[in-house]
Amino acid sequence: MQKLIVANWKANKNLVASEHFLNNFPKELAEKLRQNSSQRVLIAPPYPVLGQMQRLIKHQALPIELAVQDLSAFGAGAFTGEVAAENLEFLGVKMAILGHSERRRLLKESSQLISDKIRQALIVDMEVLLCVDEDNFIEQAKLLTSTERSLIKVAYEPLKAIGSGQALQAEAVGQFFTQLRAFFPENQLLYGGSVKANNIQDFLKISDGVLIGGASLQLETFVPLLQNCLL
Ligand code: 13P
Repeated sequence: MQKLIVANWKANKNLVASEHFLNNFPKELAEKLRQNSSQRVLIAPPYPVLGQMQRLIKHQALPIELAVQDLSAFGAGAFTGEVAAENLEFLGVKMAILGHSERRRLLKESSQLISDKIRQALIVDMEVLLCVDEDNFIEQAKLLTSTERSLIKVAYEPLKAIGSGQALQAEAVGQFFTQLRAFFPENQLLYGGSVKANNIQDFLKISDGVLIGGASLQLETFVPLLQNCLL
């Protein structure tokens, strides 16, 4: 199965910075990624740059797909400030990252709200990458039907590892996956939290992919990380 390398840019980068990132993406690495189908690379940028990134990715035939960092729990309509799945049509968005701990914590997103968002994504056949940790995975899983559960990918993002530079040991991630398997027996399971070029191989050995924040923001750190996936 293909390994997923998902870059979550969070609320970083404007139009110019996003263009700079793609225009300077090394041609040689792009070619290697195109030839090696054992991984998929996705970037979840802020919404305003999706359209331009889609154009540049197409123009340069970059082996990068687009994702979003959230999705409205409602469909299109009178929901001020929301971005619904319908609004993302024609932007080439393949995946929605849902339930990130930053949204659960800062925006008080509940597991119920997140399960509504998951439903909206599944209606339009958008892939879902659900983020969970020790404190919410059981509650979150119980709010989904078995069919819904079977259709999503799950990322384990331990709070203490996010943005701290202190990734979990791969062994501890594997132990948590054993608990996740009770609810997500066949799903692709990813790890996120201070993944960098020097530890990505450890995590790819025990998971179906990684969710990357800080190290995906600059080519200086993202390129070596991708090179190490290809080893
Ligand atoms: P860092 O890679 O910066 O720790 O962020 C992880 C994360 O939250 C990805 O969604």
